[in-house]
Amino acid sequence: MTIKHTDLVHAGRQDLRQLGVHALPVDLSTTYPLPELGTGTASLDALVAGQQQADNPVYARLFNPTVDRWERSLAQAEDAEAAVAFSSGMAALTACILALRATGNHIVAVRPVYGTSDHLLSSGLLGNEISWVLPEEVGEAIRPDTALVMIETPANPTLKLVDIEAVVQQAGSLPVLVDSTFATPILQQPLRHGASMVLHSATKFLGGHGDVIAGVIACSEEIAQQLRQVRIATGALLHPWAAYLLHRSMPTLKLRVERAQAGAMALAERLAADPRVAAVHYPGLPGGIDHGAFSRQMNGPGSVLAFEVKGGFPVAEAVIGKVELMTPAVSLGSVDTLIQHPAALTHRVMEEDARTGCGIGPGLLRLSTGLEDADDLWNDLDQALNFALTTRQRAA
Ligand SMILES: Cc1ncc(COP(=O)(O)O)c(C=O)c1O
Repeated sequence: MTIKHTDLVHAGRQDLRQLGVHALPVDLSTTYPLPELGTGTASLDALVAGQQQADNPVYARLFNPTVDRWERSLAQAEDAEAAVAFSSGMAALTACILALRATGNHIVAVRPVYGTSDHLLSSGLLGNEISWVLPEEVGEAIRPDTALVMIETPANPTLKLVDIEAVVQQAGSLPVLVDSTFATPILQQPLRHGASMVLHSATKFLGGHGDVIAGVIACSEEIAQQLRQVRIATGALLHPWAAYLLHRSMPTLKLRVERAQAGAMALAERLAADPRVAAVHYPGLPGGIDHGAFSRQMNGPGSVLAFEVKGGFPVAEAVIGKVELMTPAVSLGSVDTLIQHPAALTHRVMEEDARTGCGIGPGLLRLSTGLEDADDLWNDLDQALNFALTTRQRAA
C-alpha cells in the first residue's frame, strides 16, 4: 500500500493547533517543574514502566514532546502502533537485542547486513550468540534460547532481497526484526508482512539531508514499552533538534524517494549495458534479485544500487578518487549522490571470509543516488570509469 503525501505532511502534528503554533516546536528542556510531588511520582512510575506519555515528562531522558511527535509520524508511516527513536541506528539495534535478552541469548540472522550490525551481532559484545544462515535455513537454526530473527532487506550493500513472509513463517512465534533502511516506509512496510519490528537508520533517507544521526524501531505498543525501558536505562536518546529535523523531512520523504529512484533506475540501466561493468545489483533490473519477494513486498526498487567494475580493486579505487559531482563517502539516502567502496569502508569490520562469502568483493561499489539530474550523474560516472580504466591500462 502506498503512503499518501497528505499523511506524511500532517502526521504527528495533531497538537500544534491547540498549542497555537504552525511550525514544529522544539522543546529543549532537560527537566520539568514538579510542584506537586504526587504528579511527579505517578508520571515517573508510568514512564519508567515504558508508557508512551504521562501527565508530566519529569526529565528529558524519560520523555520529550518533540521526539514523541516524530515517533508518531513514523509509526503512522509504517502502519505501526508505536515507534521508539534512538540516537543512531546502531543504538536502535542494541536496544532490540537488550530488550529481548530476558527471553534468550541466541539470534538467527541472514547475511549480508550493514557491516557494523554484522559486527555487533557476531562479536557477542552484548553477550549474545549468533547463527548466520541462508533465508531458507532460518527455521532449522531456531533453538529453545533463540530470542530474535533478524534480516535486512534490501540488504546493504548487495541489494539482496529476503522474502519477509517466508522468514516470518519459519520464525513462528519468535519476533522478526527487519532492517528496512534502504526501502523506507514508502517502498516497504514490513509489519504488513508479519514482521514484529522495523529498524531504520534514520540517518539515511528519513533524515535525507546528511545532517542527522538517528535510529528508530516501529513496532507494537507492547514491544515499544520494552524498548522505552531500555532507552530510559541506557540513555540512547534522540536529541530534540535531531527529532525536529527528522520530522521536518517527513513531508518530502515520498518526493525524495521517488525522484532519487528514477535517477537510480536510469543509472542502473546504463551501467548494466556498459562493457566496463561486470555486474549491477539493483532490484529494478531483471535477473539476480528475488523478483517474487520484490513484487510481494516492495513498491519500487529504491535509489541504492551496487555495481562491480571490471579490473577489481584498482579500478574501483580510481573511480572513487575521480568522481567530481558525486561525493565519495559512506552513508546514503541524502539529497546528493554518494558513492563508496563497501569492502574497504562500511563492511570492512566484517571477517574477510564472511564478507567475500556474501558477495562483497574488491570490485564492488555502492552508489546512493540523490536528486541530481540523471544525465549529470552519468556523465560524472562515465568520466570516472574512463579515467580508471585508462590508468589501469597504462599501468599494465
Ligand atoms: C542498513 C543500515 N542499518 C543500520 C545502520 C546503522 O545506522 P547508524 O549509522 O544510524 O547507526 C546503517 C548505517 O549505515 C545501515 O546502512
